[in-house]
Amino acid sequence: DWNASNIIDDQVSRIRAEVGDAQVICGLSGGVDSAVAAALVHKAVGDQLTCVFIDHGMLRKGEAEQVRHDFVEATGIRLIEVDASEDFLEALKGVTEPERKRKIIGEKFIRTFEKAQRQVIKEAGALGKEVKFLVQGTLYPDVVESGGGDGAANIKSHHNVGGLPSDIKFKLIEPLRSLFKDEVRAIGTELGLPEAMVWRQPFPGPGLGIRIIGEITRERLDLLREADAIAREEMTKAGLDRDIWQCPVVLLADVHSVGVQGDERTYGSPVVLRPITSEDAMTADWYHLPYDVLATISTRITNECRGINRVVLDCTSKPPATIEWE
Ligand code: XMP
Repeated sequence: DWNASNIIDDQVSRIRAEVGDAQVICGLSGGVDSAVAAALVHKAVGDQLTCVFIDHGMLRKGEAEQVRHDFVEATGIRLIEVDASEDFLEALKGVTEPERKRKIIGEKFIRTFEKAQRQVIKEAGALGKEVKFLVQGTLYPDVVESGGGDGAANIKSHHNVGGLPSDIKFKLIEPLRSLFKDEVRAIGTELGLPEAMVWRQPFPGPGLGIRIIGEITRERLDLLREADAIAREEMTKAGLDRDIWQCPVVLLADVHSVGVQGDERTYGSPVVLRPITSEDAMTADWYHLPYDVLATISTRITNECRGINRVVLDCTSKPPATIEWE
C-alpha cells in the first residue's frame, strides 16, 4: 500500500546509511522535485546538506527570489547562490541543436557544483573534508525518457539523467528515482513544504534555454522571460494554475513574420503557448485555454514584448509531440 510517510521513513534510513558523516550538496532549481529531494535528505542528514542554487541565466522571472523566500524560510536549509550565467551562455554560443544544448547545460551544472565545493565546505564548517554526494531530483519518467529505463529509447537527455558527464566526482543520491510527480507532491506535503512550492508547475532544469528554438542569447532570454511571466500571470489570475499541468511559452527565434503596430511595419518572431494537462508527464493532452484568457495573453505579449508580433497555440497532445519543444 502506497503511503508517503512509509516512503519517507524508508528513504531517510537508506540515505543515512549511505551518507554516514559525509558532506552532501543539492542543486535547487526552484522546482518541486529538487525541493522535495533536498527536504528528504535534510531530514536524513540535517546540517551535512548544503543546497546550491545556480543561476544559469535561463531562469524565469522571480525564480531566485522564490527559492530564497519559500524554500529557505520553510526549511532552514543552508543555501549558497552562484551566478554562473556568463559561463553557461558563453558555452552555449552558436548552439542550436537540442541535445547539444542539454549536454552542455548538464556538463556546466556539474562543473559549477565542483567549483562551488570549497565554499560549501567552508559554510558547512567542515574544513579538510570533501563533498562526497550530490542530490538529484530525478523522477521515474525522467529515467525512462532519458533511456535509463527497461530498454526505453533515449527521447531526451534530461539534464539530471542522461545529460551529465561521465567523469562526475560525486556519488549521486536520487531518492525520487522510482516516483511519479503526484507521489513527490504527497511526500512534499507530508514533509511540511509550503503549498506554493509543492504545487508549482514543472519547469525543466535547462530552463528557458530549451524554449528558445535557435541560438540562446541574452536578448532572446530577456524577451522570452517577459512573455512567460505575462502568460503565467494571466493564467494565475484566471484561477487555472491547478487545472493546467504546465504551459511552456516557446520563442521561435529564427522565424520572422510581418506585422503592423500603430502605423509601423514590424518584422518579429512568434511565441507559442503550449498549455497541457497530464498525470505524470509521460503522456499529455493539450488544454483548452478559455478564449478570453488566450486573448488577454496575446494582446499583452504583443503590446509589452517588443520583437514578438504573433502568439500562436500548440494544440498537439503527447504523443506525438513532447511537452517541451526541444
Ligand atoms: P517532455 O518535453 O520530455 O517533458 O515531454 C516532460 C516533462 O519533463 C520536463 N522536462 C525536464 N525536467 N530536466 C527536468 O528536470 C530536464 O532536462 C527536462 N526536460 C523536460 C518538462 O517540463 C515536462 O514537465
